[in-house]
Amino acid sequence: MGFKHTGLFPEQAVNWNFAFNKIQDAKREIKVLNLFAYTGAATTFCLKAGASVCHVDSSQGMVSWAKENVKASGLENAKVRYIVDDVVKFVKREIRRENKYDAIILDPPSYGRGKNGEVWSIEKDLFNLLSDLKQLLSEKPLFVMVNTYTGGLSGSIIETALMKAFDEKDLSCVQSEEIGIKCENSSMCLPCGVTTIWEKK
Ligand SMILES: C[S@@+](CC[C@H](N)C(=O)[O-])C[C@H]1O[C@@H](n2cnc3c(N)ncnc32)[C@H](O)[C@@H]1O
Repeated sequence: MGFKHTGLFPEQAVNWNFAFNKIQDAKREIKVLNLFAYTGAATTFCLKAGASVCHVDSSQGMVSWAKENVKASGLENAKVRYIVDDVVKFVKREIRRENKYDAIILDPPSYGRGKNGEVWSIEKDLFNLLSDLKQLLSEKPLFVMVNTYTGGLSGSIIETALMKAFDEKDLSCVQSEEIGIKCENSSMCLPCGVTTIWEKK
């Protein structure tokens, strides 16, 4: 199920607000890589903050939807590159091209398919992908954010994976928080996943 936003940003989008604030506070040109980018909420937040974004998803339908959402948010002139491809293959190609990014966001599903049917399994493939992503980080990286919706994959597991993949010894820090959707007419939240963020100190 995708969602279409109206051009207004949801008040409770804590992890997207984190990205927005980091990009704005950097006060320099920021290049963001958004993987498994879906309908483009993270892309929209990052563009709104002034970053350029490379938006990657294997589904042409989702990428078309993201384009509509970016337009609906008044960002049609923002710097965005839309790529329909398998994330794993695309990342390997970017490494060969020596492209670099200041921030990387990924929303990997538990299980998915690349453009040509390549199988993505979070349990089998996440760590290798994170290790590859290390090679795409610029010299002054802002953050890497992993959002997961997979039962059994706790924040501390992703924290460990990030620390191992981006091994910066005591030069990096990680934090994770649950993601939830605020219920209407109630103070309760529907828990739906975990956001884990790596930053260089
Ligand atoms: C953002 S995640 C879905 C998050 C959703 N909340 C869930 O729990 O499934 C799924 C996105 O990843 C994309 N996707 C899945 N496997 C992929 C792959 N191997 N390469 C690129 N995109 C992929 C899908 O097209 C989809 O837009």
